[in-house]
Amino acid sequence: MRKPIMAGNWKMFKTPVETTAFFEKFLPLVAEAQHAEVAICAPFIDLPAAVAATQGSKVGIGGQNLHWAKDGAFTGEISGPMLRAIGCQYVIVGHSERRQFFGETDETVLKRTIAALDAGLTPIVCVGELLAERESGRTNDVLKTQFDGGIAGLTPEQFARIVIAYEPVWAIGTGKVATPEIAADAHRALRGYCEAHYGRDAAQAMRILYGGSVKPDNIKGLMAQPEIDGGLVGGASLEPNSFAGIVNF
Ligand code: 13P
Repeated sequence: MRKPIMAGNWKMFKTPVETTAFFEKFLPLVAEAQHAEVAICAPFIDLPAAVAATQGSKVGIGGQNLHWAKDGAFTGEISGPMLRAIGCQYVIVGHSERRQFFGETDETVLKRTIAALDAGLTPIVCVGELLAERESGRTNDVLKTQFDGGIAGLTPEQFARIVIAYEPVWAIGTGKVATPEIAADAHRALRGYCEAHYGRDAAQAMRILYGGSVKPDNIKGLMAQPEIDGGLVGGASLEPNSFAGIVNF
């Protein structure tokens, strides 16, 4: 059985003070949640406040990106060991916004994923197609290319420690959630690539999250698909009641 993960991606929202206020309201709302891992991936400057606020709770904290070097002359960057040192357990890698606006490629996704694993973090590796790619029937080709370039270079041991997030770009921040069937189709395709490359057991154990306009009122339908192992939630993770509604679907 794969344990679901409900992860929030706060993107570039919230100050440290707002972070503390969020967890004050949020933690009591999810105190009974045993069925899923719960995580918040916050902006770098909010991580100390998030780690402090969640100490002793089951909520894990993550970054939203990392550099592949352990340290070095890379102005403005943050490394895996730094995230680990501050108490992070997770890190998002290859989010579509990083691919779209910050030059992320499948090659750098693989480097960051390996760096995250080396630092003892759980990378949440994002893949997903653009609207034009879906409309021209190329969804599975795109996912396969992203898998081959960004994931398939991992050893079986490394692969066993990652989480994959399927985030169709057309569903991110648009309110246009993928139907549970569309999401499940993509998850099945991805699990197929996992199986072809790493074998059946490894593929069955892989957790694949869905992301893109997940809300309290659509999470139940998504989670009813056996292929969907949790959510990577943007906008709806910013408000305690809303994200708790998703966690406690
Ligand atoms: P929304 O939930 O705001 O659509 O964002 C999804 C996302 O990008 C999570 O990483």
